[in-house]
Amino acid sequence: MAAAPLKVCIVGSGNWGSAVAKIIGNNVKNLQKFASTVKMWVFEETVNGRKLTDIINNDHENVKYLPGHKLPENVVAVPNLSEAVQDADLLVFVIPHQFIHKICDEITGKVPKKALGITLIKGIDEGPEGLKLISDIIREKMGIDISVLMGANIASEVAAGKFCETTIGEAAEGPSTGSTQLLQKLMQTPNLSVTVMKYPGSAPPLWSLQNIVAVGAGFCDGLRCGDNTKAAVIRLGLMEMIAFAKIFCKGQVSTATFLESCGVADLITTCYGGRNRKVAEAFARTGKTIEELEKEMLNGQKLQGPQTSAEVYRILKQKGLLDKFPLFTAVYQICYEGKPVTEMLSCLQSHPEHI
Ligand SMILES: NC(=O)c1ccc[n+]([C@@H]2O[C@H](COP(=O)([O-])OP(=O)(O)OC[C@H]3O[C@@H](n4cnc5c(N)ncnc54)[C@H](O)[C@@H]3O)[C@@H](O)[C@H]2O)c1
Repeated sequence: MAAAPLKVCIVGSGNWGSAVAKIIGNNVKNLQKFASTVKMWVFEETVNGRKLTDIINNDHENVKYLPGHKLPENVVAVPNLSEAVQDADLLVFVIPHQFIHKICDEITGKVPKKALGITLIKGIDEGPEGLKLISDIIREKMGIDISVLMGANIASEVAAGKFCETTIGEAAEGPSTGSTQLLQKLMQTPNLSVTVMKYPGSAPPLWSLQNIVAVGAGFCDGLRCGDNTKAAVIRLGLMEMIAFAKIFCKGQVSTATFLESCGVADLITTCYGGRNRKVAEAFARTGKTIEELEKEMLNGQKLQGPQTSAEVYRILKQKGLLDKFPLFTAVYQICYEGKPVTEMLSCLQSHPEHI
């Protein structure tokens, strides 16, 4: 890693990307180790007849993805990805996971190898070699050291300065490089408590599975099942998350990691507050497709839960494990195979945990 001051580039500028830009932009002003300007790569689009980058750089607000929150003036929106990352010492990846291959391919070779990365992206990738973590994709494609940040962090609440916790995990094996402590300083605020952990294997990045459970929770809300049923979805979903991690993670998976903010807390907040829950509730009530609702309700934000359920479904099917994950399977089949939403309840009643 380069000597100070370290230049930070945020790769992404959606809802979470912009909330994080607010934190990082403010924190670097008080941390000598970091350069005072933070670049933020923005996927350019026109909003109310103006370029989004111009709006951010002049009005200091991402009016499309995080309206109502001023960004610090030292956060500079850059529309050209290669230009944004070219001299970065620290890359913060925060884009919807479906774009990760494209982004990495575009910047590989343009970022100094000594750069450090952190991914805030939820999701897993299901390629020809099976399941892959987003952190592994970035590490393999770009050859940089990469950590992971996950937690019970709904972007609008973090941006509003409401207290929450998050977890930074060093996904790499081997001795600690101390880089996660640096990342902790970059992210920590009095209202964002950051715990640093060194995880065995690659368990924590799999927490994107909670978005599948959140879709199940949203179905129950749409069916007006009540909180007891939703608690059953959360519990059984957690059991499937743990089982999935134990089967698919390299190395030993400690159940204790599920008690961190990136585990059970993230699961709870996503099942009560996130966009996946919200759209799934509307799906159950309106009968519209997931794609229609994503367009209608999210103003360009991306859903993760249904797509992750499809990726997980294909992996489980290939391994002959569908019957061990009835909740994940039901979410996929309701979203994409025309099964009735009430299938969610049948799946709870006949879950292997109850037999
Ligand atoms: N929003 C949250 O509360 C939250 C919290 C924790 C983690 N996350 C995770 O953070 C990641 C980023 O989510 P977000 O909420 O910042 O994004 P978002 O869904 O709010 O916004 C979508 C982003 O994708 C960009 N985009 C659209 N088309 C694109 C294309 N073709 N190529 C590249 N980019 C394109 C848009 O410009 C926008 O910045 C996701 O993995 C999400 O699960 C989100």
